[in-house]
Amino acid sequence: MEIDQQQQMTKQTVRALVQRSHRGPKDLTLTTDRRRPAPGAGEYLIRVGAAGINFADVMQTYGTYAGGPQAPYVAGFEAAGEIVGAGPDIETPLRLGTHVVGVGSGAFAQYMTMPAAGVLPVPAGWSDAQALGLVLNWATALAALKPLGEIKTGEVVLVHAAAGGVGQAAVRLARHYGARVIATASPAKHSTVKALGAEEVLDRTRPDLATEITRLTGGVDLTLESVGQATFKTSLSVTKPFAGRVVVFGAASGDAVLTTHDLVFTHHVQIKGLHIGALALHQPSLYQSLLIEIEALIAQGVYPPGTPQLHPLADGPAVLQQLEAGQTHGKHALDPWR
Ligand SMILES: NC(=O)c1ccc[n+]([C@@H]2O[C@H](COP(=O)([O-])OP(=O)(O)OC[C@H]3O[C@@H](n4cnc5c(N)ncnc54)[C@H](OP(=O)(O)O)[C@@H]3O)[C@@H](O)[C@H]2O)c1
Repeated sequence: MEIDQQQQMTKQTVRALVQRSHRGPKDLTLTTDRRRPAPGAGEYLIRVGAAGINFADVMQTYGTYAGGPQAPYVAGFEAAGEIVGAGPDIETPLRLGTHVVGVGSGAFAQYMTMPAAGVLPVPAGWSDAQALGLVLNWATALAALKPLGEIKTGEVVLVHAAAGGVGQAAVRLARHYGARVIATASPAKHSTVKALGAEEVLDRTRPDLATEITRLTGGVDLTLESVGQATFKTSLSVTKPFAGRVVVFGAASGDAVLTTHDLVFTHHVQIKGLHIGALALHQPSLYQSLLIEIEALIAQGVYPPGTPQLHPLADGPAVLQQLEAGQTHGKHALDPWR
C-alpha cells in the first residue's frame, strides 16, 4: 500500500473498546474517536471480523497480566479478519484481502495491527469467528498436552476449567491422542464437557475432590492446571509421583504458592510452566510445529470450525464480567461492526 494512502487511512476514526483504569472490565468504554492504527515494521493492518475474548483480557483490565498494556488502551488481543495493509519488512507477505487469525494489540476495535509472523490464514470455507481460538486456545492446549505434557495413549489427563475456551480444546485433543480425561467444571457446564468425551466431570468446589479423582483414576499422569489457588493443591496431590506432569498455564482463581520444601518432601511431580506467547518467542520452531499440527488437525476434522458466541462490541464489558465470574461456557467473541 502507498504511504499517503496509509496516512489517509490512519486519519479515519474507528469504534473501539478502551480500558481507562485498572479497576476491571466495568471501566471498559465504547469510543468512536480512536485513530485507525498504522502497521509498523513486520505488521499487518487487519479489518477485524471477530475479536476473541480470553481470560487474559480480564487480567489486563486489572493490570495483572505481566507485560500487558497500561491504561488507557484499546482492549483485546486476539482477532480474525482481513489484511487491508502491511508494514515493511514482512518475509513472504500474504496478499491483501487474505483473512487471517492471530494476536496483536487493540483487537476490540474495527481495525488493529498484528505481527505478521504469528498469523495463520482462516481455513477455507470458515468465517472469521469460526477461526478464533486457533492460534491461542488450541495452540495452548496442544503445547500443554504434547511437547510439555508428553501425553501418551491410555494415560489419564486431568483438565480443569474444562468447559472454557482452552479447556474444551484440551479435552478434545486429549481424547484424540487416546487419553482418558477427568475434568473439573462448574455443575451447569458438565454436560458440555461430557459431550466432548470426558470420562468424569467433577465440581471443583467439592471438598473431597482430590480423594475422588484418586479413587476414579488411581493417579493422574498429566494435569493441565489453569485455575491456580482453588485447585493447585489438588492437582499436585492427585498427579502420580515422579512420572506425573503438571503443566501450569493460568491462575483464574488467583496465585498459588509452591515451595522447594514442598517439592522435596511432599509433591514429587514434574512442574512445567507455559505461556504460549513466550513459547512462540523463545522456541519459534516449536511454535511453528504446533501451528503445522493444528493445520493437520483441521484437515483431519479433529479441529472443527469454532462456534463462539458473537456479541456486539458494546456488550464487551458485560461479557468480560461474566467471564471473570466464571459464568461463561466456551468461546465468546465481539463483532466490532455491530
Ligand atoms: N499461558 C498461556 O499462554 C495461556 C493462554 C490462554 C489461556 N490461558 C489461561 O487458561 C485459562 C483459561 O483461559 P480461557 O480464556 O479459555 O478462559 P475460560 O476457561 O473460558 O474461563 C475461565 C474459567 O476458569 C474457571 N474458574 C475457576 N475458578 C475461577 C475463578 N475464581 N474465577 C473465574 N474463573 C474461574 C471457570 O470455569 P468453571 O466455573 O467451569 O470452573 C471459568 O469459566 C485462564 O487461566 C487463562 O489465563 C493461558
